[in-house]
Amino acid sequence: MDVLLKRNRVTKLLDIRYPIIEGGMAQIGDGNLAAAISNEGGLGQIAISGLSPKQLRQEIELAVSKTPFPIGVNIPISGHFSYNEYFDVIKENKGQISAVSLSSGDPRSYIPFFKELGMKVMVVVGTVKHAKNAEIAGADLVICEGFEAGGRNSPYELTLFCLIPQISKAVSIPVVAAGGISSGSGMLAALVLGADGVQIGTRFIATKECSAHESYKQLLVNSKDSDTIIMERSIGGVNRVVRSNYVDHVLQLEKRALTFEELFPFINGYKNKLGAKLGNLEEGWVHAGQSVGLIDSIVSVENLFIQLMNELKQSYQSLSQNVEQLI
Ligand SMILES: Cc1cc2nc3c(=O)[nH]c(=O)nc-3n(C[C@H](O)[C@H](O)[C@H](O)COP(=O)(O)O)c2cc1C
Repeated sequence: MDVLLKRNRVTKLLDIRYPIIEGGMAQIGDGNLAAAISNEGGLGQIAISGLSPKQLRQEIELAVSKTPFPIGVNIPISGHFSYNEYFDVIKENKGQISAVSLSSGDPRSYIPFFKELGMKVMVVVGTVKHAKNAEIAGADLVICEGFEAGGRNSPYELTLFCLIPQISKAVSIPVVAAGGISSGSGMLAALVLGADGVQIGTRFIATKECSAHESYKQLLVNSKDSDTIIMERSIGGVNRVVRSNYVDHVLQLEKRALTFEELFPFINGYKNKLGAKLGNLEEGWVHAGQSVGLIDSIVSVENLFIQLMNELKQSYQSLSQNVEQLI
């Protein structure tokens, strides 16, 4: 087991101890949390969503001052936005950033830029076709993200249980599973299905090092399995958020078939920041994935890693015993 964990394809590729990647998290995926995760042996990632290029530079500096270990940056690629200034900041810090993850759009034209900077390129995908395209375009690793995940999901809405084995069969680069993983047994399940590692978002929010507002963290502790819902379907989006009166109001507006421009004031990044950073859950919204019901406490990142790895070992042992009885 130790051999699997310490020397598998993901840990070797990213030069980390455990195959656990912090999912890019808009508004709250900052340098402090990324450094805490990298210090525990995972790959911490700074999310550019919610940051100006200047703030991105500051968060990279902060992370690098707090950890000697590899750090990544998450960039959601949307055709409507220019990333040049962010790319300049990443280029300036090419010795400090060891990997980038590209999500939410077609990454193919961006991959060579990061490869030339010597960075590992990870692409978030939600279908076999997109995984294959990413591999052909030169990605080092694909992160297959299921519909259970917190945040913006693939419109194809495939669940992780089905996605991992199909993507693992289709590509030869390492596969990392994302969506609904909050425990060591979830990690083991992902490995059993063919993944080489996991990406976690929601569980990292309820940690002491996360800059999310305490009300947001407490909301996750108090939430149950059915408390998340998809917002923005009426405008072609698939955004998994925590259900609240505010979100119900947005869903009502969606029933009236508002245009993107009409709906935007209710769903934009500022409304997310209100909920996530300022704890104003009456006027803002927050992300979470379906495994939120497993979160029962706010812990340090160090203790979370200990918990995840202990659970992984225990689940592995009971799985072996169970299977031995069957075969
Ligand atoms: C608060 C939050 C914000 C997120 N923001 C982003 C983002 O900016 N970019 C991105 O690629 N994914 C984003 N995601 C998705 C995560 O990177 C990750 O893939 C997902 O959280 C994994 O599923 P889980 O939440 O069930 O662990 C976000 C998820 C959460 C929970």
